Amino acid sequence: MAKQTIELIVNGDRYEVAIDPWRTLVEVLREDLGLMGTKIGCNQGDCGACTVVIDGTTVCSCLTLAVEADGRETSTIEGVAPSGTELDPLQQAFIDHGAVQCGFCTAGMILSARQLLTLEPAADEAQIRRGLSGNLCRCTGYDKIVTAISHAAHGPKDSEPEASGEGGES
Ligand code: FES
Ligand code: FES
Repeated sequence: MAKQTIELIVNGDRYEVAIDPWRTLVEVLREDLGLMGTKIGCNQGDCGACTVVIDGTTVCSCLTLAVEADGRETSTIEGVAPSGTELDPLQQAFIDHGAVQCGFCTAGMILSARQLLTLEPAADEAQIRRGLSGNLCRCTGYDKIVTAISHAAHGPKDSEPEASGEGGES
């Protein structure tokens, strides 16, 4: 099949690529553009590791053909930090609250969380958990991720983990 030339706009940068039309967006992001932050987990729409935002909508980039993103604005984890020396508040909150362990889910989690907070800046815990329902994490048990997002949304008030648990007395 003939290659198709498309223009991807990723984090504000324009890329013209000639690709086989059956290739997925995550493949082209990683293999052609060298943007390795978007992860491939299940590669079938179940885990959310590959989440990116296209024109304001979160999508699984493993289920999205790159040609579908032709001429549209795609946001990936590489575009989240405002500068090379500064983190986005969500990224910092993930670090501060231990919401990153192996890190495989983190890019997708942060993209989903950012989109949620764009639409619902004062999202409560239930809304945050619903907003993350398409993103699986096998490491954290989710509580630290929810706490981090809540902290980014509301500040420390009502978002700190309960004092019990780790390192507690026997
Ligand atoms: S890799 Fe796309 S949903 Fe799992
Ligand atoms: S931190 Fe390992 S899958 Fe979420």
